[in-house]
Amino acid sequence: MFKPKKLASKDFLSSLDITKLELIYILELAQQLKKKEISVDCEKKVLGLVFDKSSTRTRVSFQVAMSRLGGTTIDLNPNTSQIGRGEPIKDTARVLSRYCDVLAIRTFKHSDIEDYAKWSTKPVINALTDLEHPCQALADFLTIKEEFGSFEDIVLTFIGDGNNVSNSLILCGALLEAKIRIACPVGYEPDKSIIQRAKAINNNEDFLQITNDVNSAVLGANVLYTDVWSSMGEEDQKEEKDKDFNGFTLDQDLVNQAKENVIILHCLPAYREKEITEEIFESKNSRIFDQAENRMHAQQALLSCILS
Ligand code: CP
Ligand code: NVA
Repeated sequence: MFKPKKLASKDFLSSLDITKLELIYILELAQQLKKKEISVDCEKKVLGLVFDKSSTRTRVSFQVAMSRLGGTTIDLNPNTSQIGRGEPIKDTARVLSRYCDVLAIRTFKHSDIEDYAKWSTKPVINALTDLEHPCQALADFLTIKEEFGSFEDIVLTFIGDGNNVSNSLILCGALLEAKIRIACPVGYEPDKSIIQRAKAINNNEDFLQITNDVNSAVLGANVLYTDVWSSMGEEDQKEEKDKDFNGFTLDQDLVNQAKENVIILHCLPAYREKEITEEIFESKNSRIFDQAENRMHAQQALLSCILS
């Protein structure tokens, strides 16, 4: 049985809670687990899932990853727990961490997951907040590693909203020294604090470009990535955002300007003919379902490092 190295930080709330070396280690471990070259036993450990927002991939990939490690999960949401009745985070976190060995939380405000981590005596994993989606970025860079072998000279262009997914790509990209371009409409740029933190790690001038010109952003890109224009919790902005994002649909025209062997990524769920055309979603360059599968392998690696 393989015994993975433990992470230095208790929690994984942000892509920057791990070091570059730990990130590379997790991605390598994920590849080995995927190929069944190694197996890790987490000795009947229990993962507590708390989802304040909907989820298909994150919920199921965590459940299957944990079961492959010999552990189990419990799945809570506001309706099936006292969270919906307003039980404070500091009480929920202290109780759940007496039962579980690790918690994965999906919620709205990033400060709420920081609160969970503060009060939980066990590690807390970010399963998506409004600010970051670090588990998604692990799977994304695993998919890129599988395709291109390394991150050297890789240009990843994210087209769309400067949201949680783009923020985590920026931070993870900074650690791995990939080149990241974000193409978004005016006013939808990524969070300033994320850009500052990324630049503090990778202050190479070329590392990060934020632009409103989608055509220049896709030129020569190796990876084209998009996500929904309106994230969970922004349902009331949908009509306005659909108008503002006109011209930001990932279509054949944009793909033609990227590298010939460009791969297409989308974290899912997708709205066809909004952020991506059906043609590109289903094209031979699409690695969207490998990327979805990789959520499970990346999280299995992450959990095995956290629980070892
Ligand atoms: N990509 C992702 O996090 O999907 P779910 O919302 O289905 O978990
Ligand atoms: N940005 C999206 C990602 C969904 C996985 C959202 O937060 O809804």
